[in-house]
Amino acid sequence: MELNMRAGHQGTGPGAVTPDGCAVELYSRLPVGAEPDIVAAAVPVGARILELGCGVGRMTHPLLERGFSVTAVDESQEMLDRVRGARTILSSIEELDLGEAFDVVMLASFLVHAGDVEVRRALLRTCVRHLAPDGCVLIQREGEEWHTNLPRERVDPSGFTVRIVSAESTGDGANSVYAEYEFPDATWTQTFLSRPLTKDQFEAALAEVGLKVDEYLTQDRTWVRAGQAV
Ligand SMILES: C[S@@+](CC[C@H](N)C(=O)[O-])C[C@H]1O[C@@H](n2cnc3c(N)ncnc32)[C@H](O)[C@@H]1O
Repeated sequence: MELNMRAGHQGTGPGAVTPDGCAVELYSRLPVGAEPDIVAAAVPVGARILELGCGVGRMTHPLLERGFSVTAVDESQEMLDRVRGARTILSSIEELDLGEAFDVVMLASFLVHAGDVEVRRALLRTCVRHLAPDGCVLIQREGEEWHTNLPRERVDPSGFTVRIVSAESTGDGANSVYAEYEFPDATWTQTFLSRPLTKDQFEAALAEVGLKVDEYLTQDRTWVRAGQAV
Protein backbone atom coordinates (compact mmCIF):
# COMPACT_ATOMS: atom_id res chain seq x y z
CA MET A 1 0.00 0.00 0.00
CA GLU A 2 1.42 3.37 -1.01
CA LEU A 3 -0.43 5.45 1.57
CA ASN A 4 2.28 7.75 2.83
CA MET A 5 4.70 8.00 -0.05
CA ARG A 6 7.21 10.80 0.09
CA ALA A 7 6.49 13.47 -2.55
CA GLY A 8 8.18 12.60 -5.84
CA HIS A 9 8.87 9.00 -4.81
CA GLN A 10 7.24 5.90 -6.20
CA GLY A 11 7.97 2.21 -6.52
CA THR A 12 6.47 -0.66 -8.46
CA GLY A 13 6.93 -4.42 -8.31
CA PRO A 14 6.11 -7.30 -5.99
CA GLY A 15 5.81 -6.81 -2.23
CA ALA A 16 5.94 -3.87 0.15
CA VAL A 17 7.32 -0.51 -0.97
CA THR A 18 8.75 2.10 1.40
CA PRO A 19 7.70 5.78 1.41
CA ASP A 20 10.78 6.60 -0.69
CA GLY A 21 9.89 3.97 -3.29
CA CYS A 22 12.26 1.13 -2.32
CA ALA A 23 10.92 -2.40 -2.62
CA VAL A 24 11.61 -4.56 0.43
CA GLU A 25 11.97 -7.78 -1.55
CA LEU A 26 14.32 -6.09 -4.03
CA TYR A 27 16.64 -4.90 -1.27
CA SER A 28 16.60 -8.39 0.25
CA ARG A 29 17.98 -9.67 -3.04
CA LEU A 30 20.60 -6.99 -3.76
CA PRO A 31 24.11 -8.14 -2.87
CA VAL A 32 26.35 -5.90 -0.80
CA GLY A 33 29.52 -4.62 -2.45
CA ALA A 34 32.66 -3.11 -0.98
CA GLU A 35 30.76 -0.77 1.35
CA PRO A 36 31.24 -2.67 4.62
CA ASP A 37 34.99 -2.83 4.00
CA ILE A 38 35.12 0.89 3.20
CA VAL A 39 33.32 1.60 6.48
CA ALA A 40 35.44 -0.82 8.48
CA ALA A 41 38.65 0.75 7.21
CA ALA A 42 37.49 4.26 8.14
CA VAL A 43 36.32 3.85 11.73
CA PRO A 44 37.70 2.52 15.03
CA VAL A 45 37.54 -1.22 15.68
CA GLY A 46 34.32 -2.17 17.50
CA ALA A 47 32.78 1.28 17.08
CA ARG A 48 29.15 1.96 17.99
CA ILE A 49 27.47 2.75 14.69
CA LEU A 50 24.14 4.49 14.14
CA GLU A 51 22.99 3.44 10.68
CA LEU A 52 20.37 5.75 9.19
CA GLY A 53 18.13 4.24 6.49
CA CYS A 54 19.28 0.65 7.07
CA GLY A 55 16.69 -1.07 4.85
CA VAL A 56 16.74 -4.85 5.27
CA GLY A 57 20.23 -4.76 6.78
CA ARG A 58 22.28 -5.25 3.62
CA MET A 59 25.08 -3.23 5.28
CA THR A 60 24.05 -3.89 8.86
CA HIS A 61 24.71 -7.62 8.78
CA PRO A 62 28.26 -7.45 7.37
CA LEU A 63 29.06 -4.66 9.85
CA LEU A 64 27.87 -6.82 12.75
CA GLU A 65 30.02 -9.67 11.41
CA ARG A 66 33.00 -7.31 11.49
CA GLY A 67 32.47 -6.71 15.22
CA PHE A 68 30.67 -3.36 15.21
CA SER A 69 27.57 -2.74 17.28
CA VAL A 70 24.86 -1.27 15.09
CA THR A 71 21.69 0.65 15.89
CA ALA A 72 19.69 0.42 12.68
CA VAL A 73 17.06 3.04 11.86
CA ASP A 74 14.42 3.01 9.14
CA GLU A 75 10.93 4.40 8.66
CA SER A 76 9.72 1.10 7.16
CA GLN A 77 8.73 -1.66 9.60
CA GLU A 78 8.74 -4.13 6.68
CA MET A 79 12.40 -3.34 6.09
CA LEU A 80 13.29 -3.53 9.80
CA ASP A 81 11.55 -6.90 10.12
CA ARG A 82 14.37 -8.38 8.03
CA VAL A 83 17.21 -6.97 10.15
CA ARG A 84 18.86 -9.57 12.39
CA GLY A 85 21.17 -9.07 15.36
CA ALA A 86 21.03 -5.28 15.56
CA ARG A 87 18.99 -2.94 17.72
CA THR A 88 16.32 -1.56 15.38
CA ILE A 89 14.46 1.74 15.62
CA LEU A 90 11.37 2.60 13.58
CA SER A 91 11.59 6.33 12.89
CA SER A 92 12.03 8.91 10.21
CA ILE A 93 15.62 10.05 10.28
CA GLU A 94 14.53 13.67 10.44
CA GLU A 95 12.68 13.15 13.73
CA LEU A 96 15.13 10.77 15.35
CA ASP A 97 16.36 11.93 18.76
CA LEU A 98 17.68 9.01 20.80
CA GLY A 99 19.46 11.13 23.40
CA GLU A 100 22.57 9.02 22.78
CA ALA A 101 25.90 9.67 21.11
CA PHE A 102 27.60 7.28 18.69
CA ASP A 103 31.18 6.85 17.51
CA VAL A 104 29.93 6.69 13.94
CA VAL A 105 26.76 7.95 12.30
CA MET A 106 26.23 6.53 8.83
CA LEU A 107 24.09 8.26 6.20
CA ALA A 108 24.52 6.03 3.15
CA SER A 109 22.43 5.24 0.08
CA PHE A 110 22.73 8.80 -1.27
CA LEU A 111 20.17 10.11 1.22
CA VAL A 112 22.18 13.33 1.43
CA HIS A 113 20.85 14.08 -2.07
CA ALA A 114 17.30 14.55 -0.75
CA GLY A 115 15.28 16.56 -3.27
CA ASP A 116 13.94 18.85 -0.55
CA VAL A 117 16.71 21.00 0.90
CA GLU A 118 14.94 21.21 4.26
CA VAL A 119 14.83 17.41 4.44
CA ARG A 120 18.56 17.27 3.67
CA ARG A 121 19.27 19.75 6.48
CA ALA A 122 17.14 17.71 8.87
CA LEU A 123 18.97 14.48 7.92
CA LEU A 124 22.34 16.09 8.52
CA ARG A 125 21.19 17.66 11.79
CA THR A 126 20.21 14.20 12.98
CA CYS A 127 23.74 13.03 12.23
CA VAL A 128 25.19 15.88 14.30
CA ARG A 129 22.67 15.36 17.14
CA HIS A 130 23.88 11.79 17.62
CA LEU A 131 27.59 12.32 17.24
CA ALA A 132 30.03 11.65 20.09
CA PRO A 133 32.61 14.44 20.63
CA ASP A 134 35.31 12.51 18.74
CA GLY A 135 32.87 10.71 16.49
CA CYS A 136 32.56 10.81 12.73
CA VAL A 137 29.80 10.86 10.14
CA LEU A 138 30.13 8.57 7.13
CA ILE A 139 28.21 9.74 4.09
CA GLN A 140 27.72 8.05 0.74
CA ARG A 141 27.18 10.57 -2.06
CA GLU A 142 26.55 10.23 -5.76
CA GLY A 143 29.38 10.14 -8.24
CA GLU A 144 29.93 12.76 -10.90
CA GLU A 145 27.81 12.50 -14.07
CA TRP A 146 25.39 10.08 -12.42
CA HIS A 147 22.49 12.16 -13.72
CA THR A 148 23.89 12.99 -17.14
CA ASN A 149 25.51 9.81 -18.43
CA LEU A 150 22.13 8.15 -19.07
CA PRO A 151 20.66 5.71 -19.71
CA ARG A 152 23.21 3.33 -18.22
CA GLU A 153 22.92 -0.22 -17.06
CA ARG A 154 24.92 -2.81 -15.18
CA VAL A 155 24.48 -6.53 -15.38
CA ASP A 156 25.27 -8.02 -11.99
CA PRO A 157 27.15 -11.33 -12.02
CA SER A 158 24.40 -12.81 -9.85
CA GLY A 159 21.97 -12.41 -12.74
CA PHE A 160 20.01 -9.17 -12.54
CA THR A 161 20.23 -5.91 -14.45
CA VAL A 162 20.03 -2.46 -12.90
CA ARG A 163 19.24 0.34 -15.30
CA ILE A 164 19.18 4.06 -14.49
CA VAL A 165 16.86 5.12 -17.28
CA SER A 166 16.42 8.86 -16.90
CA ALA A 167 16.89 11.90 -14.70
CA GLU A 168 14.54 14.75 -15.54
CA SER A 169 14.82 18.17 -13.99
CA THR A 170 11.98 19.18 -11.71
CA GLY A 171 12.94 22.80 -12.32
CA ASP A 172 14.23 23.62 -8.84
CA GLY A 173 17.65 21.99 -8.92
CA ALA A 174 16.48 18.45 -8.25
CA ASN A 175 15.95 15.61 -10.71
CA SER A 176 13.30 12.94 -10.90
CA VAL A 177 15.31 9.75 -11.41
CA TYR A 178 13.75 6.60 -12.82
CA ALA A 179 15.47 3.25 -12.23
CA GLU A 180 14.64 -0.34 -13.18
CA TYR A 181 15.82 -3.59 -11.60
CA GLU A 182 15.22 -6.66 -13.75
CA PHE A 183 15.45 -10.15 -12.30
CA PRO A 184 14.58 -13.32 -14.22
CA ASP A 185 11.31 -13.64 -12.27
CA ALA A 186 10.45 -10.07 -11.32
CA THR A 187 10.98 -6.41 -12.17
CA TRP A 188 10.99 -3.49 -9.77
CA THR A 189 11.07 0.21 -10.60
CA GLN A 190 11.77 3.22 -8.45
CA THR A 191 11.18 6.89 -9.12
CA PHE A 192 12.87 9.23 -6.67
CA LEU A 193 13.93 12.84 -6.27
CA SER A 194 17.63 13.50 -6.12
CA ARG A 195 19.43 16.82 -5.92
CA PRO A 196 22.88 16.69 -7.55
CA LEU A 197 25.58 18.26 -5.40
CA THR A 198 28.99 19.24 -6.69
CA LYS A 199 31.86 18.73 -4.27
CA ASP A 200 31.61 22.40 -3.25
CA GLN A 201 27.84 22.24 -2.82
CA PHE A 202 28.18 19.07 -0.77
CA GLU A 203 30.78 20.64 1.49
CA ALA A 204 28.62 23.75 1.86
CA ALA A 205 25.67 21.54 2.87
CA LEU A 206 27.83 19.98 5.58
CA ALA A 207 29.03 23.38 6.75
CA GLU A 208 25.40 24.49 7.22
CA VAL A 209 25.10 22.01 10.08
CA GLY A 210 28.61 22.41 11.48
CA LEU A 211 30.22 19.44 9.74
CA LYS A 212 33.46 19.40 7.79
CA VAL A 213 34.96 16.80 5.45
CA ASP A 214 37.77 14.95 7.15
CA GLU A 215 38.60 12.65 4.22
CA TYR A 216 37.21 11.39 0.93
CA LEU A 217 37.52 7.66 1.44
CA THR A 218 37.24 6.44 -2.14
CA GLN A 219 38.83 7.63 -5.36
CA ASP A 220 35.45 8.57 -6.84
CA ARG A 221 34.77 10.64 -3.69
CA THR A 222 31.44 8.89 -3.11
CA TRP A 223 32.31 7.84 0.46
CA VAL A 224 33.16 10.62 2.85
CA ARG A 225 34.18 10.83 6.48
CA ALA A 226 33.17 14.08 8.17
CA GLY A 227 33.48 15.44 11.67
CA GLN A 228 32.40 18.43 13.70
CA ALA A 229 33.89 21.65 12.33
CA VAL A 230 35.68 23.25 15.24
C1 LIG B 1 17.78 2.85 -0.95
S1 LIG B 1 17.27 2.01 0.51
C2 LIG B 1 18.84 1.51 1.11
C3 LIG B 1 18.82 0.64 2.31
C4 LIG B 1 20.21 0.26 2.83
N1 LIG B 1 20.95 1.44 3.26
C5 LIG B 1 20.98 -0.50 1.79
O1 LIG B 1 22.00 0.00 1.31
O2 LIG B 1 20.59 -1.60 1.45
C6 LIG B 1 16.85 3.42 1.53
C7 LIG B 1 16.25 3.04 2.88
O3 LIG B 1 16.19 4.21 3.68
C8 LIG B 1 14.91 4.36 4.23
N2 LIG B 1 14.68 5.81 4.30
C9 LIG B 1 14.77 6.69 3.30
N3 LIG B 1 14.56 7.93 3.73
C10 LIG B 1 14.31 7.81 5.05
C11 LIG B 1 14.04 8.76 6.08
N4 LIG B 1 14.00 10.06 5.81
N5 LIG B 1 13.84 8.31 7.33
C12 LIG B 1 13.92 6.97 7.60
N6 LIG B 1 14.19 6.04 6.68
C13 LIG B 1 14.39 6.46 5.43
C14 LIG B 1 13.96 3.65 3.31
O4 LIG B 1 12.80 3.24 4.00
C15 LIG B 1 14.83 2.51 2.80
O5 LIG B 1 14.71 1.39 3.61
